Parts: sequence; C-alpha cells; structure tokens
Amino acid sequence: MVNLTLAHMTLLSVVGARPNFMKLAPLARALARRPAVEHVIVHTGQHYDAEMSDTFFEELSIPRPQHNLEVGSGSHAAQTAAIMLRFEPVCQAVKPDVVLVYGDVNSTVAAALVAAKLGTRVAHVEAGLRSRDWTMPEEINRVVTDRLADLLFTPSRDAVENLRAEGVPDDRIHFVGNIMIDSLVSSLDAARALAAPRRHGVEGKRYVLVTLHRPGNVDVPDTLVELLETLAVLSVESPVLFPLHPRTRARIQSLGWSAPDGAHLHFLDPLPYLELLSLEFSASLVVTDSGGLQEETTYLGVPCLTVRPSTERPITCTEGTNRLVAARREAILSAAREALAAGSRHPVTIERWDGHTAERIAEVLVDGARYT
Ligand code: UD1
Repeated sequence: MVNLTLAHMTLLSVVGARPNFMKLAPLARALARRPAVEHVIVHTGQHYDAEMSDTFFEELSIPRPQHNLEVGSGSHAAQTAAIMLRFEPVCQAVKPDVVLVYGDVNSTVAAALVAAKLGTRVAHVEAGLRSRDWTMPEEINRVVTDRLADLLFTPSRDAVENLRAEGVPDDRIHFVGNIMIDSLVSSLDAARALAAPRRHGVEGKRYVLVTLHRPGNVDVPDTLVELLETLAVLSVESPVLFPLHPRTRARIQSLGWSAPDGAHLHFLDPLPYLELLSLEFSASLVVTDSGGLQEETTYLGVPCLTVRPSTERPITCTEGTNRLVAARREAILSAAREALAAGSRHPVTIERWDGHTAERIAEVLVDGARYT
C-alpha cells in the first residue's frame, strides 16, 4: 500500500503532447485547492507549435509550466531519450514525492522511466487501457508506464481488469473515472457559446467532423489516398470538416492531393480545444482515429466511426456511440451513411465519467482515499 498522506507534498506533472493538456487541466485545479500541495508542471516540448500547445494552456487556464524541456520532434528513440536526459536533472532538483504522467505519449513513458529509476513514485493518469496492437507506439508506452507506476488511475472497469490480468496489485489501482470528461463537462457551455458551426458555414447542416493522424492511417500513401477519396465522396452528401494534425498536413502535401471539384471537404488548421468541442457537439458524425474523440463522442451521444482495427477504449463501442471501421472506402461509406440516416443522438452515461475524476485523483494523492 502506498501511503501518501504527508503534511506537505510536492507533486510534479509531466505533459508534452496535445492530448495530455486536457487531462492535466482539471487535476491542476483540484490540486490548487489543497494548500499543502506544491504542484510543479514540466512541459517536455514534444508538441511545440502554438496551435498544438500554447492555445490549450490559455483556454484551459493551466498554470504556466515551471520547466520546458524543448525536446521537439524526432524519431521515437531520439524524442524519448531527449526527454529522459533533460527531465532527469529537473526531477533531481525538484525532488517530488510523486511524478504524475498522463495518457500514452512518448513524454509519458520517458518521464515514468526517469522517475522510477530515481526511486520516485510514479502515478499514471489513464492507466490500464490496452489495444493489444503492438504496432501502435502508444500501446508500448501504456504497458511500460503501467509496469513502472505505483499508483494507477483508471478511467473504466475494463482497464482495472486489464491491470489485474497483468498482475498489478489491487492496492495500486484506483478506478477514478475519465479525466477527459472533466475537461469536457467544464468547457461545454463555453464551447457551445462559440457557435463554431456558424463560423465554418455548416450551421443547421448535417456535417461530418474528421480527425486522422495515426501513422497507420496517414503514413502509408495508398491508405491515406483511399481515406481522402472516401471523405471526398462523403462530402458531396454531407460537408466534411477536417482539422489537420501537422503530420497529416505534411503527408497530404507530399502526396500533392487535392479534393476534386464538387467535394465539400474542408481542410482546417489544428483547432483550439473549445472550437473543436463546439464542432463535435453539433456534428452528425465524427470520423477519427483519436482516443479522446472516441470518448467525447460517447459522452455527447454523437455517432463516431473509428478508423482503426482495434481500440484501447472498448467501452465506447460496447456502451457508447463508437464503431470500428477498416480504412476502406466501402466500409467507411456504408457505416457513415447508416449513421447519418439514423440521425439520432444518444448521450451515454458511463460509470464515473461525471466531471469529478480529478477531485477523486486528488483525494487519493493527498487525502489517502481509495477508489475501487
Ligand atoms: C503524439 C502521440 C499520439 C497522440 C498525438 C496527438 C506519441 C508516440 N504519439 O503523436 O499518441 O495521439 O501526439 O497529437 O507520443 N509536429 C509539428 N508541431 C508540433 C508537434 C508535432 O509540426 O507541435 C509534427 C512534427 O513534424 C512531428 C510530427 O508532427 O514529427 C509528429 O509529432 P509527434 O509528437 O512525434 O507525434 P504525434 O504524431 O503528434
């Protein structure tokens, strides 16, 4: 049993990539309400463009990180190693009681390795998710991080079962719920007030919101072309808004692909969090390979097609609005037409996806609570 109830406590959060930031925001707020806690934030710089990073800190009122490791892009080995080299002296200087890592990106596993080897306790927010697809770098990051973690905060019961099956002792596992939903719940009113569909010319229309950035979808030219051509066909029936991750934009540019005449396939820059939520809320369909959008669409009741062979978030399929589809034209078009024709929204209530996950994590970390 990890006993954490101390009179004064230093917690150090490490974040680096876009999906980390909305997981940090609610926990930073919950920890700020506890005077005995000093919370140090380290940004690895894995994501560095203003639209991939700064805008999220501003919109979500995340305190400015005390340290930025400025590692930037690189191969997996180069990026992970650079984070480790630069994080180690910071961790040694701050001497935190616990290092908190989030999600499944390279920054997550790199910081967990450093902390564990310095003998510092590691807490993993969003533990226990498994796609069982070892071609995904995120799966490697998840499994290694969970193996190193002393405190594992899971979003769902299936994640608890995954950890048990791997032999993680029960007293390390805390089923606290989904922290992404905390950010969603607290941002939804502001997001809706933005009325982003009007700004993008799709107000009152049946439109499709698309995000794709996984190497498996965008790094293989034949697959990417098939996906783009499929979206172009779909966009004749319902306009398609496609905010492009930098990786995806680079791949499309190198292919020299552009949408055919008559298509309503609109490529956009990466969107700020609230603008994306605003578009997601009113979309008739979301097509994605992101983890976060699978969860958000389930909460909002928006139909979602996930262009992947597997998901580490199966609850979004079994209980929510998500459905897996192959990266093939016919599979996507028939599933999309079916979802668009049904036209209904079914917001789904999933256990502990309630906006209070950050508070539960803070209770475990600071007050010694347990959530089983
Ligand atoms: C990372 C995560 C992925 C997450 C995604 C969200 C890993 C292994 N993957 O993937 O799980 O879903 O973030 O966005 O950590 N780039 C820029 N500007 C930036 C950041 C990246 O131009 O601010 C470009 C660079 O060319 C870079 C490429 O995007 O080489 C990929 O960035 P990287 O951080 O390596 O991985 P992501 O694909 O973003």
